[in-house]
Amino acid sequence: MEINGKHYRSVWLADDGTTVEILDQTKLPYELEIIQLTSMQLAATAIRDMWVRGAPLIGAVAAYGVALGMKHDPSDEHLQKCYDELIETRPTAINLKWALDRAFSLLQGTPTEQREKVAYTLAEEVADEDVKLCESIGDHGLELIKEIASKKPQGSVVNILTHCNAGWLATVDWGTAISPIYKAHEAGIKVHVWVDETRPRNQGLLTAFELSSHGVPHTLIADNAGGHLMQHGEVDLCIVGTDRTTAQGDVCNKIGTYLKALAAYDNNVPFYVALPSPTIDWTINDGLKEIPIEQRAGHEQSHVFGLDENGTRREVNTAPKGTECGNYAFDVTPAKYVTGLITERGVCDANHDALATMFSDLL
Ligand code: MRU
Repeated sequence: MEINGKHYRSVWLADDGTTVEILDQTKLPYELEIIQLTSMQLAATAIRDMWVRGAPLIGAVAAYGVALGMKHDPSDEHLQKCYDELIETRPTAINLKWALDRAFSLLQGTPTEQREKVAYTLAEEVADEDVKLCESIGDHGLELIKEIASKKPQGSVVNILTHCNAGWLATVDWGTAISPIYKAHEAGIKVHVWVDETRPRNQGLLTAFELSSHGVPHTLIADNAGGHLMQHGEVDLCIVGTDRTTAQGDVCNKIGTYLKALAAYDNNVPFYVALPSPTIDWTINDGLKEIPIEQRAGHEQSHVFGLDENGTRREVNTAPKGTECGNYAFDVTPAKYVTGLITERGVCDANHDALATMFSDLL
């Protein structure tokens, strides 16, 4: 997608063909800085410290991390070390394990002298596939937005609420929840996006940054505003992403998603979740009991970044000194509150039978 008219992916290979480049998302939306990842350890840090974030992007960067690791040392011991270090970086998004399992099983069956090349090819494949999956999500989600637009008075705006950043910065390109919005905007449908700020890390600012780069009308709102807007008919549908979807359709996404789903349910607002199939964890059913919820440093809750009056990016403390802070990064929305899952193969109900029918080959 584009920043100031220039096309970017969120991860790509540098001209030397082996260095991995990313946008430092901890600096966005204030500064556009490219970081070069030259080792598996640096790729692990990039994921752990959220220089990159978003479930599909985490998976892609992990795959590139394995390639960097194989460049350094393609032995069996080092392959195992790469797996063990990368898998520890973030616990909730299943795309990380999906990408690492895929790389590990392929490379185990590959002679050591070929592992570097095979690992880079795989990482490029994972990234390219993600772009295709996310674009297809956009095409299927577009049909839903068209349908909702067709039921409104002609020419009126479709108001969509989203939480966190599930745009192209969270994937390799296009995004999950935001992909249908880009498609609708391109198709000339009038859309307006309510962008939840998404404390504590303010991923909503990334969404606002993306949408303004593409000229999509949007309004940044406090996380608690969504319920009020739904009660007053200001939201036609919600679309969010997910970091892990269970085989029965429970979805785990950024903290606060559950409350939006409850408000949507109470106000008869359709609540859709967009996901590529690597985000489905077929091994579990009950999201509340079985999905590990990441808890991050309290510092992220007590401190925020912003620009000072000189336009310099600064971090400030907003909490009284010594306040204990809790920082639960995700929550689970049970399938019963999800109107539908927008996948690369189409839209299905959030339940085991519908998912199993749509993805019978992946079970
Ligand atoms: O903690 P983050 O920023 O990695 O969380 C990201 C989200 O919760 C997204 O909504 C999710 O990864 C799905 S979108 C591609």
